[in-house]
Amino acid sequence: MNQHCLSQKITLIRPLCPDSEKTLRLTDVLEYGLDGTDCEVLETVAEIEAADLTGRRLLFAIELGESGINLEYVRMLKLIRLNREMFRGSIAGIIVDGASELYTKSVSRHLEFSANRAGCAFLGRPLVEGTLSLRNYNVVANVLGTDNLNAYRQSVRDLAERLQSYQPSAVEHPRILALHAGHSKQSNTLLLWSMIRAGIEDRADIQEISLHEGEIYDCRGCKFETCLHMGEESRCIYGGVITEEVYPAILECDALVMICPNYNDAISANLTAFINRLTALFRVHRFYDKQLYAVIVSGYSGSDIVAEQLISSLNMNKSFLLPPEFAMIRTANDRGSIAKREHIREDASAFGQRMITQLCGGTE
Ligand SMILES: Cc1cc2nc3c(=O)[nH]c(=O)nc-3n(C[C@H](O)[C@H](O)[C@H](O)COP(=O)(O)O)c2cc1C
Repeated sequence: MNQHCLSQKITLIRPLCPDSEKTLRLTDVLEYGLDGTDCEVLETVAEIEAADLTGRRLLFAIELGESGINLEYVRMLKLIRLNREMFRGSIAGIIVDGASELYTKSVSRHLEFSANRAGCAFLGRPLVEGTLSLRNYNVVANVLGTDNLNAYRQSVRDLAERLQSYQPSAVEHPRILALHAGHSKQSNTLLLWSMIRAGIEDRADIQEISLHEGEIYDCRGCKFETCLHMGEESRCIYGGVITEEVYPAILECDALVMICPNYNDAISANLTAFINRLTALFRVHRFYDKQLYAVIVSGYSGSDIVAEQLISSLNMNKSFLLPPEFAMIRTANDRGSIAKREHIREDASAFGQRMITQLCGGTE
């Protein structure tokens, strides 16, 4: 992705929280994590309205308190949702600090989904959270041999360093892996993907794997050591299509396209099983240079929930890079009806061209 020249300094977007007592821990971890970093700070809606936020390295840092609501942030979110060009060419990370065990992840997903629609890319593993108890750092603190607050501080520093040093990668002829679990030729989501695919076939190597046929076992939750050992050999306790076809294809691809009909406001069971089973491979590989795309169709509503599920599982947890406007989203219910939607082929073609541009590092 190279649409804009990226600024070197970090722009910290930290929505103002009037209760200074509540902000102490976030201030502490930011001071540690950003020590020595060239940084500009924006705190209010008026400040972000006045700023040019395209082509920036953005770090959102949000204090949620106990309620999970920061009113200045909510006002900012409204602005972000109404300006689809606001963050064009920018790359971002997120820090969210709460005085509750809840809300940090869901607020981050909403923000990331909305900012992404406004043109913002997100690093793989872009989120650092501080829940009230900081128990979410038990594992990291153990690995680093420190306490949980220090693990939080170091996670902020690691994120800031990755944001600062991020450079977009580019390939000449991208390898694209498309995963689906659809079975009907009349699946609206598969039809939409076939329209996108038709426009990019000569510009990329495209591999499509169906997870519909045969039994896909969900993750069994093996012991860490077993999972790690399996991952080192690109295996998982269960074999089958996931380890034989999907694992090698994931390691080779430059972009993963998730083809997701909305099933009860979630991605379907076999695709969920794939993401869970990716854990073994993730134990030994990071996917920071692999871009995540999605094609999402709902019969009625709720595509944002499906998109956010993909963001939290594959970008926040499993480390795929989220390119700007990662998902093509439509509403269609009757079998095959998406093909009759006005401008659908043009829209599909434009989405495919943008994928190629972003993968090849060109300008739009
Ligand atoms: C099991 C199942 C659950 C569904 N749940 C929802 C839903 O929660 N919300 C919605 O908008 N559409 C829902 N739909 C409708 C599909 O999203 C719709 O048919 C759409 O065209 C995408 O599915 P397709 O690619 O299989 O055609 C559901 C469909 C099925 C088969």
